[in-house]
Amino acid sequence: MGFDGRVRSSLLSSQVKDHAVFGGVVPELASRKHQEVIIPLLRAALSEAGVDEPPGRVGLVAVTNGPGLMGSLLVGVMTAKGLAQTWECPLIGVNHLEGHIFANRIAHEGIETPFLCLIVSGGHTEVILVKDWGAYEMVGRTRDDAAGECFDKVAKILGLPYPGGPEVDRLAASGDPKSFDFPVPMSSTPEVEFSFSGLKTAVLWAVNRIRSKEEEVPVADICASFQRVAVEALIGKVVLASEMTGVGRICLSGGVSANSALRRAFGERFGGNVFIPPIELCTDNAAMIASAGLDRFLRSGPSGLDISPDPSAPLT
Ligand code: KG4
Ligand code: ZN
Repeated sequence: MGFDGRVRSSLLSSQVKDHAVFGGVVPELASRKHQEVIIPLLRAALSEAGVDEPPGRVGLVAVTNGPGLMGSLLVGVMTAKGLAQTWECPLIGVNHLEGHIFANRIAHEGIETPFLCLIVSGGHTEVILVKDWGAYEMVGRTRDDAAGECFDKVAKILGLPYPGGPEVDRLAASGDPKSFDFPVPMSSTPEVEFSFSGLKTAVLWAVNRIRSKEEEVPVADICASFQRVAVEALIGKVVLASEMTGVGRICLSGGVSANSALRRAFGERFGGNVFIPPIELCTDNAAMIASAGLDRFLRSGPSGLDISPDPSAPLT
């Protein structure tokens, strides 16, 4: 079967509302919801793609097998195994981070390697050197919280709903980014490494200080100041990674790359050398997994039906 790499359907079933009442992702709830929606969503995607009779018409099943939450990975991997068996087609396990890298291949046709990919999401903050498609080197990562996790925790401190990133982004637009002088984490270390837990604590202390004086918390100013510092921390280390590796082309991926200040700052710093997918490809999506899976399959063949989910699957 030939593959043209065109995206025929990429559907998403968001659980954000289910988890919002708990202020964060509840793993057990996530896997239950996954198994509830996976078949209806699959049917809708096949129908949208015009593949109502899959056997003989689906050439490959690609599935995320890690990293991620075990329960959710299990639902995906077991379903994919069943489909591959029934449809008599090959199966390929995809690393979630490789998927994020491939969001850029879908969004920017013909983009060339090498490039640096900054993956910033609720679970990841990583700078990866993409030497070639399938050949990766980890340049640096967070020592503690992920950038998105930090946005979410700061939002929680301020009493904003989950997920906090979009709320902080929205409120920051009307705040003064210089009103609070939070320290830029890791700004003086010579390595490409991130840390976001201290920044979150700095925000917490500032808010507690204001609350203890029974003054009104200037939410927009705190959002704007925190966001400025978080973006500075990310951009500073990407500049360092670019200098260390000699690679000037930069790609972004992951939910936090939807942040308006981040997009603006990277555009100003790297100009035509920065590539940012549209928001629906930055956040988790099926098309990026299919694209990474197809490329890996064409390079090195299928995984086989014996793949297992691996919550901490390494990219390199
Ligand atoms: O990649 P993603 O959709 O899911 C995973 O974490 O895998 O990323 C979600 C994260 C959340 O932490 C959310 O708050 C953050 O991305 N996020 C943002 C924005 N939109 C989403 N953070 C900052 N600014 C945004 N506009
Ligand atoms: Zn992700």
